Amino acid sequence: MAFPQHRPRRLRRTPAMRRLVAETSLEARNLILPAFIKEGAQEPIQITSMPGVVQHSTDSLKAAAAEAVELGLGAIMLFGVPEEHDARGSAGADPDGVLNKAIRDVKAEVGDELIVMSDLCLDEFTDHGHCGVLNAAGEVDNDETNDIYAAMAIAQAEAGADVLGPSGMMDGQVGVIRAALDTAGHHNVAVLAYAAKYASAFYGPFREAVDSQLKGDRRTYQMDAANRREALLEVELDLEEGADMVMVKPAMSYLDILADVAAMSPVPVSAYQISGEYAMIEAAAANGWINREAAIEESILSIRRAGADQVLTYWAVEVGRWLANR
Ligand code: PBG
Repeated sequence: MAFPQHRPRRLRRTPAMRRLVAETSLEARNLILPAFIKEGAQEPIQITSMPGVVQHSTDSLKAAAAEAVELGLGAIMLFGVPEEHDARGSAGADPDGVLNKAIRDVKAEVGDELIVMSDLCLDEFTDHGHCGVLNAAGEVDNDETNDIYAAMAIAQAEAGADVLGPSGMMDGQVGVIRAALDTAGHHNVAVLAYAAKYASAFYGPFREAVDSQLKGDRRTYQMDAANRREALLEVELDLEEGADMVMVKPAMSYLDILADVAAMSPVPVSAYQISGEYAMIEAAAANGWINREAAIEESILSIRRAGADQVLTYWAVEVGRWLANR
């Protein structure tokens, strides 16, 4: 079975041959566009550490959603940036809060032609920047936070979200959210669980994107980068609690986790190519150190190859345009 009988280069000779034998491909429907909506913004505001990504105004968000429809993207995932923060993140469950309003606006724009997902977490809304509420000792209180997530879930479902993305890593959050949705009659609203979400330095630029108030870190609730098996436990628990889809996050430094999860998951698996992954490639490309478009495509293809059915990426629209013009 060795050379000269075998010459793997035969299958790499021409673009047509490589196209024939490619194991993985990118389609617009695999891409999910994360989008930020800033309360009160009249114009989109550039995010310095994520060149090309903005905090949307209502109008620019609707236009982005319309383009996502046109390109056939898989979904849009909405994040709210409120004007007011408080200790309990009250704006999250307020039907007139920035995120819930945006869900309504986008849904009115796209109807059933695009899946609308919403981030279900408190960090954008709290004045301390944590993903949950704090107890007297200053720790994130798991069960009390889950009660607030339940209220947020109902507000988001009522606003018209198709899929909720709980990203706070509280124990039991998926089960509490599922029960709240079902009790309120929202049986058809799905849950994309951020099942294996790691405490990552690569979230840096996101903090600017959502005007984060965070001091300290999220290591008491997000996973430790040292751990691999624990990701499978998190996925199993979320599946038992009723997750319809599961996510691994970040993507690029966690492709081993993604491959493990893809091998065992009976439900669709997403991966989130996060803000720092975006910023690194943009920064290197801006310096002329790598080929921007090739690096973007390779990065997303690698995430697909590792096992992601869907990839959340800030390049979703741009890559969707490339794919449409091929
Ligand atoms: C939490 C949340 C975060 C991101 C998505 N949801 C921030 C965090 O957990 O610190 C990060 C996304 C990115 O970095 O692109 N609501």
